[in-house]
Amino acid sequence: MIVETPSKVILFGEHAVVYGYRAIAMAIDLTSTVEIKRLDNKIVLNLNDLNKSLRLNLDEIKDIEPKNFGDFKYCLCAIKNTLNYLDIEPKIGFEINISSKIPVSCGLGSSASITIGVIKAVSRFYDRELKDDEIAKLGYTVEREVQGKASVTDTSTITYKGILEIKNNKPKKIKGKFEEFLKNCKFLVVYVEDRKKKTAELVNEVAKIEYKDEIFKEIDKIIDKALKVDSKEEFGKLMTKNHELLKRLNISTPKIDRVVDIGSKFGFGAKLTGAGGGGCVIILVDENREKELLKELNKENVKIFRCKMVS
Ligand code: MEV
Repeated sequence: MIVETPSKVILFGEHAVVYGYRAIAMAIDLTSTVEIKRLDNKIVLNLNDLNKSLRLNLDEIKDIEPKNFGDFKYCLCAIKNTLNYLDIEPKIGFEINISSKIPVSCGLGSSASITIGVIKAVSRFYDRELKDDEIAKLGYTVEREVQGKASVTDTSTITYKGILEIKNNKPKKIKGKFEEFLKNCKFLVVYVEDRKKKTAELVNEVAKIEYKDEIFKEIDKIIDKALKVDSKEEFGKLMTKNHELLKRLNISTPKIDRVVDIGSKFGFGAKLTGAGGGGCVIILVDENREKELLKELNKENVKIFRCKMVS
């Protein structure tokens, strides 16, 4: 059995969301894949992209301390929590093969994608399909256990798919015209550069900015407008405007700004997505000028991923 799971971008409201303002997140078709198959007496985990493998006895999994297992920690924590939640004592073993197209550590929810994929794969393997609410909750528990602290943004967006509004760590699905509008949008996620700072460090730096609340209020107004527009041109301009405000929070970098400029000039608009300090830019593509856009981006030595919303 194979489970394919999306990743996510923040369209508006990163950092503001930390202070009780809204963020708008979208599930995208840049995916991770979890394959699960029966195996007698063992649990085997293969991280195909990293060429790493782990073997466990069936009786080891329920008391395991995932944090001690490096790159396997999300996967192990997801297996353990799913088995505990379903009250399953594993008698049959399984092999899990994980591969992912999602760049890591850049705000696209690569670990949440794998976590949700593993929860779904393990529950289906034991014929105990879970509801989305249960999957999202388990996913959040896993991220909290592994990271010590977590936000529902990644695990919820990746579970419920489509568009979500996140406020006070609570997700709300946005349906209707706005979702339909975004379904018809083509985006590029551009991996610009490795992040130089961790999310916690950037959040702490933003906390010291005196005028941050003014910026967050402006971002909130942008979201109000974005939820009502039906033109890609307008939507793109709002993305770029959100980026200008993020720049004032000092979380952008010269290279990110260059890519955002290209995205705004040769596309409908662009912004960094996630905590910043490097990482990814999201560009709303103007299909009539896509070739020029790609030509300009390719001069920047970046990785480009075409993507659409997944619902
Ligand atoms: C990180 O992807 C987004 C931030 O808003 C932090 C968070 O929401 O937890 C910077």
